[in-house]
Amino acid sequence: MKRLIFLLPLLLSASEDFISHYEYGEMLYNNPRGVSCAQCHGKQGEGKVIVKYLEGKEEKVIQGSDIRRKPLPQMVHTLNSFHEIMPRYYLTDEEVKAIYDYIQEKNEDYLSQEQDSNSTK
Ligand code: HEC
Repeated sequence: MKRLIFLLPLLLSASEDFISHYEYGEMLYNNPRGVSCAQCHGKQGEGKVIVKYLEGKEEKVIQGSDIRRKPLPQMVHTLNSFHEIMPRYYLTDEEVKAIYDYIQEKNEDYLSQEQDSNSTK
């Protein structure tokens, strides 16, 4: 027992490295104490059609935007404000940063391409 107590601080500090910053961001992106970002922004932030419906004869599309090129300050601002469709989240700046870094790393190849060769809407 004595030995276990002695080991405890070691174990606790080791667990900090247990999941990487990337995995932490991935976890938050998919489970951000609320509706998963992936539900509306796709698996890795590329955007996704949420719903299509007809208004009269006109087809309307509600879409989660492509957020792969959104800068961090904008992401922080967006997550801390109210929107018509997107829920408001209560994440700390560090958590938003982890999500941001996750999206950046996940889309490394895409993001290294020329900005204007892709739509950035
Ligand atoms: C229910 C659907 C939904 C969910 C869930 C959702 N979003 Fe969104 N998000 C949207 C829609 C729709 C827009 C674009 C229009 C708007 O601002 O409402 C948007 C816009 C954004 C933008 C860009 C805003 C801008 O200024 O262009 C960012 C960044 C973003 N979302 C990040 C996230 C992150 C990160 C999560 C998870 C923590 C998330 N969203 C969850 C629907 C959603």
